[in-house]
This record gives sequence, structure tokens and C-alpha cells, in this order.
Amino acid sequence: MKFGVCYYPEQWPEERWATDARMMRETGLEIVRIAEFAWAKMEPADGRFDWTWLDKAIETLATAGLDVVPGTPTAAPPAWLSHAHPDVLRVDANGRARQHGTRRHTCPNNPTYRHYSRRIVQEMVQRYGREPGIIGWQIDNEFGGGKSGRCYCSHCAAAFRDWLQKRYSHIRALNDAWGTVFWSQTYSDWAEIMPPDDRIDKKNPSHLLDYYRFCSDSIVVYQQEQVDIIRSGTPGRFVTHNFMGLFRDVNQFDLAAPLDFVTWDNYPTGNPERWHGRLQPPTEQREPIDYAHDVGDPIITGMAHDLMAGLRQRPFWIMEQQCGHINWGELNPGIRPGTVRLWCWHALAHGADAILFFRWRASLFAQEQYHSGLLRHDGRADVGMADLQTMVAEQEQMRQLTAQPVHTQVAILCQYDDLWALQEQPHRADFDYWRHSYAFYHTLQRMGVPAILLPVTADLSPYKLVLAPTLHLVTPEIAAALQQYVAAGGHLLLGVRSGFKTGSNLVTDAPLPGLLRELAGVTVTDWQAMPMAAGWELRSEIPGLEGPATYWVESLQADTAVPLAHYAHGATAITENKVGDGRVTSLGFYPTGAQVTAVLRHLISQNNITPLADNLPPGLVAARRGGVTILINFAERPLTAIINGQPITVAARDIALIETTKT
Ligand code: GAL
Repeated sequence: MKFGVCYYPEQWPEERWATDARMMRETGLEIVRIAEFAWAKMEPADGRFDWTWLDKAIETLATAGLDVVPGTPTAAPPAWLSHAHPDVLRVDANGRARQHGTRRHTCPNNPTYRHYSRRIVQEMVQRYGREPGIIGWQIDNEFGGGKSGRCYCSHCAAAFRDWLQKRYSHIRALNDAWGTVFWSQTYSDWAEIMPPDDRIDKKNPSHLLDYYRFCSDSIVVYQQEQVDIIRSGTPGRFVTHNFMGLFRDVNQFDLAAPLDFVTWDNYPTGNPERWHGRLQPPTEQREPIDYAHDVGDPIITGMAHDLMAGLRQRPFWIMEQQCGHINWGELNPGIRPGTVRLWCWHALAHGADAILFFRWRASLFAQEQYHSGLLRHDGRADVGMADLQTMVAEQEQMRQLTAQPVHTQVAILCQYDDLWALQEQPHRADFDYWRHSYAFYHTLQRMGVPAILLPVTADLSPYKLVLAPTLHLVTPEIAAALQQYVAAGGHLLLGVRSGFKTGSNLVTDAPLPGLLRELAGVTVTDWQAMPMAAGWELRSEIPGLEGPATYWVESLQADTAVPLAHYAHGATAITENKVGDGRVTSLGFYPTGAQVTAVLRHLISQNNITPLADNLPPGLVAARRGGVTILINFAERPLTAIINGQPITVAARDIALIETTKT
């Protein structure tokens, strides 16, 4: 484990830099990220570059012994650019152009912005590409952040038409793929196609899905331009980007593909607060919150870590780790001693190899004045600094663990196409893609079974159990890959709404679950959203599985599969199908917490998956690297779990490391 920090030399007097650099080293920091918002300082006027300050900043930091990670500054283009070329500004779905005054205000498809963005990156790389103190590069900052993931300007409209032409070749194919015969939407020329902005009342879901894919691809292509420039001019340095956990608007698997590894920005009191309501189960009383008020929901943070781990299926970094209060949540609670340490151990337990704190010193000015850093506004240490000192003392132990792989036997599939398709057509308004996945993830965590979130295209063979809570859009390639995984001995769980749609978001004309029907060995004879007050009682041999099934229910007809549960009226609710050396379990309803627990217990014991701990109380989470189980207590009181038959008590807001035998 290495520690680092995000530093903004341009925001502090030059005379202070050496002191800051020395203090960073003295406090055990080894890496420093800089410059990702400093375009106006690097290029104060069109084509006039000033590198003197950055030369000096890099030299000061490197001389102090810090490894430097510059960020390309393209998330914060300068005012002179917006002023001279107002069409670089992004256009919202309601047709309104952004105004200059913040960051992320430009369009990735705008040729002028692209020109300037390429040029600043080229200049930067030319100057610093071989700088010995620089170990790697961050591209831009949080692509899609600040609602910048989708633009609706005329350049995007033109690029969208090109994108469609490449995808469909012929306008007839597009008409078929979108079902444009409906409401007379038929296009006779590419030029007639517009971005689906908010001036359209009810939008065609296939048109929308393609637009979301196109917007995501636009960012991927935009990023690639920088990847290429950086790779060609910075031998031996890594290239990364700082991702945003459960962020929805960009296909983060695609964005991660060309990078050396993933980094992400972990704000445990901010992000989970934003995601909380949308992830908690709709079907029942929520589990009482049993974690301290200043730690954030650890299972939501854990899911974000495990998605970030799945982007490249290799260790990741935390590029920005919250180290005190933030300024952009609802409450922004103060952080107590010990909390930052919990967050760091949690990140390590899920696969982080390095953690950089955001930020070195709280800002005296502008948008983030109320945000904390390792140092307060007055330069004295803030609460995170003491935790950093504790962790520096634990660093050797941490290093040994980061050398070990994260132990995971279960994968949860996720597909941005499904997320976007269901976002636009949830059928019942509160059906949320991440929330459905979270029901499974949360239960696994509570059972002490780690899981990774993976794309459908990943190599699934290392995983004993693969959960596909909502595999909605299915292509022949996806069906074939899953067939292969199962036939070779894997166990796949398919949840509701599986196989309903084609790759272009049309409903399949085959009996459901469409292309997955043979693999599942079932036919879905009926599906419906159901009010909570109604429900179908369950009858099952699976211990603990009781009804009613409600919220979303499907009647299954077992073809080659065998029924494992029925609804009281007779239709089948759960089936299991043997295929080759493996099995497919089909779950015909959206489960409550108790139901998903019963189903997962059954699957876990069927597949000889041993939980890391038994009787994990809420607030205590478990993960494992190599042979060491890491218990993290996010609650205000000591909590006890059972490991290998032994009770292990972890003090309030503390961690415990337990050597376990490898299985
Ligand atoms: C991140 C962003 C940083 C800073 C931080 C504040 O999302 O990348 O630049 O704004 O939030 O918490």
C-alpha cells in the first residue's frame, strides 16, 4: 500500500511549495497528483504556454522524493476558449448551452475543443513525458461528472449520424432496429435523425439507448485521443483515469479498457448518501442502519469498490480518498478520528493498492471552500492526518496484503445497456437496475461472501457462481458465452426480466426468456408488476423461502428444468436446469431481503462456497486478500462474528486481521 495526495500548487504561493512537499514526505506520503484543473495557468492565452510554474512545482515535489502523477487539464478548459469559441460549450437535453464558470462545460465531439484539447495534452506530454519524477498520468477528471455525460449540440447530432451509419450501414436497418414504423417515425435519410433531447415528449427507447451508447462512446473516443498521445510520449509511465463508482451515464467498462489500471474517487459520506435511497429494497422494512454516523453506508461503498475492481479485473487505486468532511452532500458530517483509517482498510480489502487523499490543504477560495483536506485552511493538521500516521505505522502489514489477490468466488454481471434501457422503461417507476443488483450484493456481503461486478463479456470461468439479476438485452453472443460458462461447470442465476429484449432494445418475438430459454430450460408464461399489497404465496423446499412474492413476478413453466418453488396458484416460481457440467437457476420474482437470503444460501451451499465469517452482524464487513480475512467494524460498539467456529470480536470502529486457511 502506498499513500499519496492531491495537490494544487497553482492555488498556493510558490514560496509554500517546498514546505508542503517536505511535510508530505514527513507524513509518509509517496505520490502526489497535480495539475488536472490548471489549463488556464498552463496556457493563459491561445497558444501561449507557460510551463515555468509547473516545471518548478514538479521539481519541488520530485526533489522532496514524491512520485508525481500529472492530470491532463481538459476537464477545466479556460475562459478565453469559451469566449472565443462559444460553440465548445455543452448543450443540455433541454437545448440550453452551458455557460462558462465551472468545469466539465465542453462537448467531447466539438472539433474546436478537440483541437485545443489535443494541443494542450501534446504540449504537456512533450514537456514532461520523460520527466524522471513522473510515474504516470491521469487523463482528464471524472468523465461524465457534473451531468456532463451527454451533450445535445449540433456537433453531437452530426457525430451521432456518423455513429449510426457505421452501426447500421443502411437506413432501412436502422428503421428495423428502432421499430420506427411506430407513430410514423420512419427515416428516409440519416440527416433526418436528431438527438433524442427533451423537446421530444415520449422518446423511442431504441433511439434513446443508441444515443446513450453514442454519448458514452464519444467519451471513450475522446479519451483514446489522449491515451494515444500520452502513450507515444511517456515511455514506461502508466495511464489511468479517475472513475466514479456506481455512476450511471458512461459505460465504465469501455472507458477502462485502454487504461493500465483503474482509479476511482471514494467519498463514503457523499456517494452512498446519493445512492442510498435508490438502492435500498423497495419491498420491505429496511435493515436498521447500524454503522456510525460519519462512515457512510459501507455496503454501498463496497459495491462501488467491487465494480471498480471488475472494470479491469486487477487491483485499482483510490485517486481521491475523502479524508475529512466534504462539501457537496446533504449534511456533510464531521469526521472523527479513526474513520479515514476504516475507509482505507476497506478499500485495501476490496483491491486497492494505493490511496491518494483529497486534498492536501482545504481551499481558501472558490467552489470547494467548505471541503476539508489533510491540512486545515490554516495549514494545521486536520483529522485525517492522525489516521494517516496510524496507517503509516501499519503500512508493512498493508503492503503484505496488497501483494495478495482479493478472494472472490461469486460474480454479479452488469451491463450498462440494461441499466439504460430499464432507466427509460422501468415499467414500474421504482424498478431500478442497480437497486436490483444491490439486493443480491447486499445479501452476499451480509453473509460474508465477497462478489465482484463484471461485464457479460468477462472470462467467468474463475467464478463458481455468477448472478445475472437483470440480464435484459441479450444477443446471440451473450447467450453463447453464458452457455459455455455453464456447460463447463459454472452455476448461473437468472433473475426477472431476463432475455426480454434484443441488442437494439426491441422486445424479442421468441417466448421468454428469449435467447436464454434453452439454457434456462424454462418458458416465462406470464410477467407482471404487482402492488405491494398483493402477492403470490410461495411454496418451496428451499429452507427459509417464504412468500408472498410481490413487486415483480413471473410465472415459469419448467421445460427441461426442475421446479424448486411454486406460487400457491400452481405456476412455477424457481427452477434449476442442468446443462453440461453446470446449472442454471431461474428466479421468477424480485426477492425481498429474506427471500434473496434464502435463495443465495441455497446456491452457496450447492457450490461449496464458504462464507468468510458466520453470523456477521450489521455494521461488520468481511473481505479477504490471500489467506487473511479482514474484518472492519463500522459500528459504534464492538461486534462479534464467527470465523472457523471461533468468535472474533472487533472493537468499535476498528479492524481485525485473521489468518485463515486458503480454500
Ligand atoms: C471529486 C472531484 C474533485 C473534487 C472532489 C470534492 O468528484 O474529482 O475535483 O471536486 O470531488 O469532493
